Amino acid sequence: MDEIATKKLTFASVLKNPIYKDRNLLFELLPKKGLVHRIEQKNELVMELAPILMNSAVNCVFLYGNPGTGKTALVSEIVDELGKESKKRKIEFKTAYINCSENKTETTILIEVLNQLGEEEYPRLGWTRTKALSEFKKKLSDKNTNLLIVLDEVDYALKESGDDILYRLSRINERIKANVSTVLISNDIRVIDYIKPKTASTAGRVKIIFAPYTYEELRDILKARVMGSFQKKVVSKAVIEKIAEIEANRGGDARKALELLDACGKLALGEKKNKIGLELVNAADTSLEKDTILGTIATLTKHQKLLMLTMLKQKEKDLEGTGVYKKYKETCVKQNVSPLSVRRIRTFLVDFAEMGLLKQEVTWLRDLKKKSRSIRVEIDSGTKKKAIKMIRDSL
Ligand SMILES: Nc1ncnc2c1ncn2[C@@H]1O[C@H](COP(=O)(O)OP(=O)(O)OP(=O)(O)O)[C@@H](O)[C@H]1O
Ligand SMILES: [Mg+2]
Repeated sequence: MDEIATKKLTFASVLKNPIYKDRNLLFELLPKKGLVHRIEQKNELVMELAPILMNSAVNCVFLYGNPGTGKTALVSEIVDELGKESKKRKIEFKTAYINCSENKTETTILIEVLNQLGEEEYPRLGWTRTKALSEFKKKLSDKNTNLLIVLDEVDYALKESGDDILYRLSRINERIKANVSTVLISNDIRVIDYIKPKTASTAGRVKIIFAPYTYEELRDILKARVMGSFQKKVVSKAVIEKIAEIEANRGGDARKALELLDACGKLALGEKKNKIGLELVNAADTSLEKDTILGTIATLTKHQKLLMLTMLKQKEKDLEGTGVYKKYKETCVKQNVSPLSVRRIRTFLVDFAEMGLLKQEVTWLRDLKKKSRSIRVEIDSGTKKKAIKMIRDSL
């Protein structure tokens, strides 16, 4: 008998990837075991937001910090904890998370909040600000609930639409029964410049600063992440320390540190290694700069980016031609720009396919007995998140 026949093979052993255990965990906003560090900021947030659990509103708590310093992650952890605690105490608590780089006007922000309340489906096209605001007040006027609105990357909305939304949100509790609280997140410290003194006196009294991560903090964050996402003994202490050192010197960005670690993993896979050696770190660092998909996306025009963003954000695996155009129009409204014609968008889709960003297939929809184009974005989940972030930042 030959050797293969005597050696027992299982699917698990064949499919076992010698480098990663679960690569997706590298990109999770909230790791299962919670965040590492940021105790001080968390304590401040707990203190500031505790009144919500006493049925009173908290006005505009501001969080500042450079990209990748854990603002969004920490707030999402706190929101989870508020949710659990309010259940225990039988306090009505609802929350809405809005990314303002995608919802830049007061109208789209309000509609998004209403939609996240989940009681009704509100159309994302064709609403005026007055209508959205009066619907918002109506929905909350006689409710005994505590609503926490998180406006992430709020500087985008302030630059585009001014600070009226903050002023109105800070005053809204005078007119309705529900308690509306707000947390604002920004990585642009100049956000203050966009706020008028009139608003500043009622909003943004509390500020919580997220300093760039230090070498030690990045090292601990990486160490904790390596456990679930890589196979045992693939990533050495020296590699973690080197990545932490590189990124601490660059701006203390945890996202970048995790990306560099992932780039090392991908290189090791490509080179069929079963360990990540120290020499791979520099090579991975260079390879990140020449990521071709991201490079291609960076060269797109504004409306191509809007279309790409629309497709990257879709939950369904396959999209269908006409649906894409409707979603693209919604993206335009949220960004406060006028949409291009359906014909232009169709040519963009052809361009994207040529650039290798997506796949198009003509299929027969069995039930409807008609032809339909299905479109699929061909990008892995880690790169997808990076691409979304890159496009948002550039719009
Ligand atoms: N203290 C931490 N512990 C574990 N993971 C962290 C920590 N801080 C950040 N991360 C991870 O780093 C990545 C970036 O964090 P996050 O998105 O919260 O940054 P941010 O401050 O909101 O950045 P931006 O200003 O660009 O939105 C996330 O994947 C997050 O899980
Ligand atoms: Mg963020």
